[in-house]
Amino acid sequence: MPKRPTDHPADTASARNSSPASKPVLPPSPDTPTPLLGNLTPSQFMRRYWQKKPLLIRQAIPKVEAPLSRDEFFDLADKDEVEARLITHFRNKWQLEHGPFAADELPSVTQRAWTLLVQGVDLYDDRARALLDRFRFVPDARLDDLMISYATDGGGVGPHFDSYDVFLLQVKGKRRWRIGAQKDLTLQPGLPLKVLQHFEAEEEWLLEPGDMLYLPPHIAHDGVAEGECMTCSIGFRAPSASELTAQFLYHLAERGESAVQPNVLYRDPQQPAVDRPAELPAALIERVGAILADVKWNEQDIASFLGSYLSEPKPSVVFDPPQRPLNEARFISQASKSGVRLDRKTSLLYNRRFFFVNGEETVFAGGKKWLFDLADRRSMSAKRFVTLSYDSSVTALLHEWYRAGWIQVGELV
Ligand code: SIN
Ligand code: CO
Repeated sequence: MPKRPTDHPADTASARNSSPASKPVLPPSPDTPTPLLGNLTPSQFMRRYWQKKPLLIRQAIPKVEAPLSRDEFFDLADKDEVEARLITHFRNKWQLEHGPFAADELPSVTQRAWTLLVQGVDLYDDRARALLDRFRFVPDARLDDLMISYATDGGGVGPHFDSYDVFLLQVKGKRRWRIGAQKDLTLQPGLPLKVLQHFEAEEEWLLEPGDMLYLPPHIAHDGVAEGECMTCSIGFRAPSASELTAQFLYHLAERGESAVQPNVLYRDPQQPAVDRPAELPAALIERVGAILADVKWNEQDIASFLGSYLSEPKPSVVFDPPQRPLNEARFISQASKSGVRLDRKTSLLYNRRFFFVNGEETVFAGGKKWLFDLADRRSMSAKRFVTLSYDSSVTALLHEWYRAGWIQVGELV
């Protein structure tokens, strides 16, 4: 039941800064069969299942470990900046509360039928980020976040559907999933959460640690914990047409330039005197229509909008710049020994013409290949850094990012 829209939580301070950064597990390449997808290649998975039909994958990640222990997870749910939700189903009544939750505000772990969900765990924990990175065979522009749910026996969020694709990875204990492709998606009225009025399960599986269920949007599902359990949900973003339109027009207007004529003011030299002052003048409507019809854009504007918009950090993300930053010379010498990596909160996207880092569009410095590789791998080896360090435009840019807390010295090891 994750809330996937844009109103995500994010952190203002690093909840946990696992160091050194977790070992990267590279996403499988498109044509290599992988246990993660039940020995399909990512290309086969995308063709056959993505946005089309559910897939159950036994032992997608054998010996998987929960990124956070139960206590670490409860600590995270107590942070102000984190979006945590508590859903209880006591005496047959659904209730929802929003965090933060101090440990003593949560029901006892011996009590049945409650669940705690934390959105965007990848922003706070490198192990969660590394888990999310395994799914980068789907473009970053679509990948949203990693949510973790903890539930006691019988706990769940009720039968519901989501509007987004999701991989539900069991990381601790067992959960029974029932799913159905029903057409009737009517919700029970008057509840604080989305629970289907009539749920008809067509298939049912008990998932154990390492097992994973992929669901495309709008498949009804219900996951109920059997004993204490934890589930990671890897979610995707799909902005609605109305959100994209509103944001794109805002982007165009903000940029001014040639897309809109920023200095055209409304004029009405022909306006006659009126005896119905409250009425909108027809000429005004016509004139504004003409101004709007003049708004122009091209593919470059769309790419520039999408790159900036999709790489924009979630509202409460604040980076943690180094407290005593190295000067550029020392940064270069350090990075030449240990490489650099993107901070787990950094979003770096590119296309042929531009690149976008954390919502900012930037011109390429010193060629493009290094930047493409850093964005795709989220890490740059010391050796690669040394080769690039002869180009001061590259080192100056990377030093600036380091000072902003967008990258860190030290590769993913
Ligand atoms: C989901 O149904 O999408 C996830 C719910 C959970 O992890 O409990
Ligand atoms: Co769901």
